[in-house]
Amino acid sequence: MKILKDKNIVLGVSGGIAAYKAPELLRILQKAGAKVRVVMTKNARDFISPLTFEALCGHKVLFDLFDGSYTSAIGHIDLAKDCDAAVIAPATANVIGKLANGIADDALTTFMLAAKGRKILCPAMNEAMYENAAVKRNIMKLEADDYIIMEPSEGELACKTKGKGRLADCDKIADGICEALTTKDLIWKKILVTAGPTREFIDPVRFISNPSSGKMGYAIAAAAKKRGGNVVLVSGPTYLEHPEGVKFIKVVSANQMADTTFINAPDADIIIKAAAVSDYRAEKFFEHKLKKGLADKVSLSFCKNTDILKEIGLNKKKEQILIGFAAETEDLEKNAFKKLKEKNLDIIIGNIVGKPGSGFEADTNKAVLFFKSGKKKVLPVMDKGELADIILSRCLTL
Ligand code: PMT
Repeated sequence: MKILKDKNIVLGVSGGIAAYKAPELLRILQKAGAKVRVVMTKNARDFISPLTFEALCGHKVLFDLFDGSYTSAIGHIDLAKDCDAAVIAPATANVIGKLANGIADDALTTFMLAAKGRKILCPAMNEAMYENAAVKRNIMKLEADDYIIMEPSEGELACKTKGKGRLADCDKIADGICEALTTKDLIWKKILVTAGPTREFIDPVRFISNPSSGKMGYAIAAAAKKRGGNVVLVSGPTYLEHPEGVKFIKVVSANQMADTTFINAPDADIIIKAAAVSDYRAEKFFEHKLKKGLADKVSLSFCKNTDILKEIGLNKKKEQILIGFAAETEDLEKNAFKKLKEKNLDIIIGNIVGKPGSGFEADTNKAVLFFKSGKKKVLPVMDKGELADIILSRCLTL
């Protein structure tokens, strides 16, 4: 979301029932630091008052091309000149049809034809309308004209039917705007990311694992996707929704993670291992649930799992970038440099675990980047998404 800071975003609102969600999108964009202005169609005013938007963004809403009270007689051109992104949410079949055919007969369509920045449409309509051949044709035309289409979601529609036609989730739209504004510096690059914990089952109902939520790895995958990368995300069990547009491979055990990672590693340009892999697994897997029995103590025997990262490091190609993570409770620097060397890494990201705001499960992380050269870079506590972007930028400088 950082990319939205000080960006000029024009929010277009056309006349559909989902117009009531547009203020929520406006607030999300504003919270991220964007300067938002609103252009509406006249029909949109039957669903939501311009006053709502004026109160939220502190600017007059443009809906009449000939409204003399706007800042200048050609208000739509003023907005179009400085606009980084124009997003219509909701975009009706009517507005989509007009834009696909270059028709500019109101403030919104005229503005869109003149707008300079990225153009994003978020269709919302009845399912049958969305499936209509003419609408589909118009959407394809607009995609060919470099418009970004944020597909509607499925669910119950205002007309009480179920299907695809609901306005995409506002957070997803905001994410889509961020992606549209992000420089595509990882295009043509294959980025392999591992995330989350592994589970080593002892019997059908018990396993050993760790508290990794997957947040760090998923943030890296999402950031790499936004930057145009071809992303493969290998993940242990998590409760997270995986980022859209990445190749997602779900695994459970360290052995499965090893197999999947080894298949995907040879042609990857950048490999980032944020997963918390179990170092050991139970030597014997019991087919049936172990019963309590009479003994006060039981002991289990564990055997070593493959060190996936070390294995990849051994076979690392010259042009590949290999990044590992080190989750430590003590001697971060010493342990991180040891792992960097042993596993033949370019960078290792050391993070302290067991402190609030860092490591497992937190939305933020406190990390130190350790480089092959022996140098290090201490970073402040930051959002895992922000850290992900720093790591990826470092990969590019290598
Ligand atoms: O998922 P979150 O809740 O967001 O938490 C993020 C995190 C703390 C899990 C993450 O930032 C992190 O530090 N991941 C690595 C944790 C870890 O297991 O570190 P390690 O020191 O055990 O392993 C070092 C490196 O070797 C890691 O890149 C690990 O993926 C890799 N490894 C370890 C063991 C093994 N058998 N195979 C491996 O590839």
